[in-house]
Amino acid sequence: MLSKNSTAFSYSLSFYSWYNYSMEEIISLCKRRGFIFPGSDVYGGFAGTWDFGPLGVALKKKLMDEWWNYFVESRDDIYGVDAAILMNPKTWVASGHTATFADPLVECKDCKSRFRADKIADGITESVTTEEFLATHTKCPVCGKENWGPIRKFNMMFTTHVGAVLPDDDAEIAEKNIAYLRPETAQGIFTNYKNIVDTIYPTIPFGLAQQGKAFRNEISPRDFILRDRECSQMEIEYFVHPNTWEENFESLRAAQHDFLENVIGLPADRIHELEVPAEDRAHYSKRTIDFMFDYPNGEEELMGLAYRTDFDLSNIARESGKSMDYRDKVTNEVFVPHVIEPSIGVERLVLAVLSTAYTEDEVNGEKRVVLKLPENLAPFRFCVSPLLKNKPELVAKAKEVYDMLRKKYTNVTWDDSGNIGKRYRKQDEIGTPKCVVVDFDTLEDNTVTVRDRDTTEQIRISIDQL
Ligand code: GAP
Repeated sequence: MLSKNSTAFSYSLSFYSWYNYSMEEIISLCKRRGFIFPGSDVYGGFAGTWDFGPLGVALKKKLMDEWWNYFVESRDDIYGVDAAILMNPKTWVASGHTATFADPLVECKDCKSRFRADKIADGITESVTTEEFLATHTKCPVCGKENWGPIRKFNMMFTTHVGAVLPDDDAEIAEKNIAYLRPETAQGIFTNYKNIVDTIYPTIPFGLAQQGKAFRNEISPRDFILRDRECSQMEIEYFVHPNTWEENFESLRAAQHDFLENVIGLPADRIHELEVPAEDRAHYSKRTIDFMFDYPNGEEELMGLAYRTDFDLSNIARESGKSMDYRDKVTNEVFVPHVIEPSIGVERLVLAVLSTAYTEDEVNGEKRVVLKLPENLAPFRFCVSPLLKNKPELVAKAKEVYDMLRKKYTNVTWDDSGNIGKRYRKQDEIGTPKCVVVDFDTLEDNTVTVRDRDTTEQIRISIDQL
């Protein structure tokens, strides 16, 4: 078992025993089978963007639906919102993003390459100074020289202009029309807090949840879908009485583990909590726990749980001139709620699920790749095939079984390509738990062969038992 105090050596041993494959093999499977493609692939790609194909979008949607079902539909204290991506720019002044949402950028004076300093040097954090960085004697990853400019803060928000702004308009007009692509979904929740309180009258503690796109102009997008310029977040802002933040923090912490481990099946021993030290916490947080996950290429943040105090609501009150007070329905006490925020990136979750599911084994002396996805996440639950494609009576019977299963389970696929062995390999690679095959015996006794993805065992059962 791996803890955050493990040495680098024991990390690599543990990774070796968990993952006998590399990230490249997952990337290759994702492209080969239509899960994930490089963004704008046909034009040679576009750094930091990825496109989800039919199977990837099925997996991603199932994850998002499981999350929504667990945190919103199954609870009576968390409500959903879906706010606009483009927001009034005052939002980002109030939230502190205009002033502080920045990464340390360093430029190589020789080859002019630019990097995020804390990602190319060991033992430093986002708040690194020029002196601290130079003391690491890091060489430029591109040209190998050690000739650095100063550390500069690079704001990661993407800017755009709203309305009819022309290229020859003067700087003042352009500046007045600037808007940002939201760098977190959270602010769309905070800015709707008052609307919800005034219309739904929720009893505190209560949460507002949102799923949607967020955009960050990452200096160095990397590691497949782990650090993108466009990602999807699932966030909850949970509003509490200031005196109760600790107990609410603990119960949301437990709920995250329950969701990750018991609903979507991530192994508990690959999730590690990291108590983020004050100097590394986001500007709004008084306490943050990062949930780290052991990916095939190392440990990386999967999600964060932050105590945001009344930072956001108080700033919105100041910037908008509107009260963010909450009146307790029982005690009549009036206060600005404090907030606990669980925030998770969908792409990082997809990769954690794929890394866990990807398995290589041997069947009849041949290497087999199999995605052992939990049934609730697999793009297809069943694949139905006729044993032979050129026997109309088998095809007709198989279509009957296919239609019946589709009515019952919806996510069922049809495959009559190649031979049966090739179909099994393909379905193994995309994680279909069961393959149902219709053969000549089916026509006689209404039974089918059901083949299990993980064990490859085949059983014969009657169609109405499916
Ligand atoms: N509202 C809080 C917030 O946005 P964050 O730690 O910056 O906090 C939350 O982001 C989560 O969003 C991360 O834990 C990660 O899962 C995901 N995330 C952030 N930046 C990302 C990126 N560039 N690419 C993919 N996922 C990202």
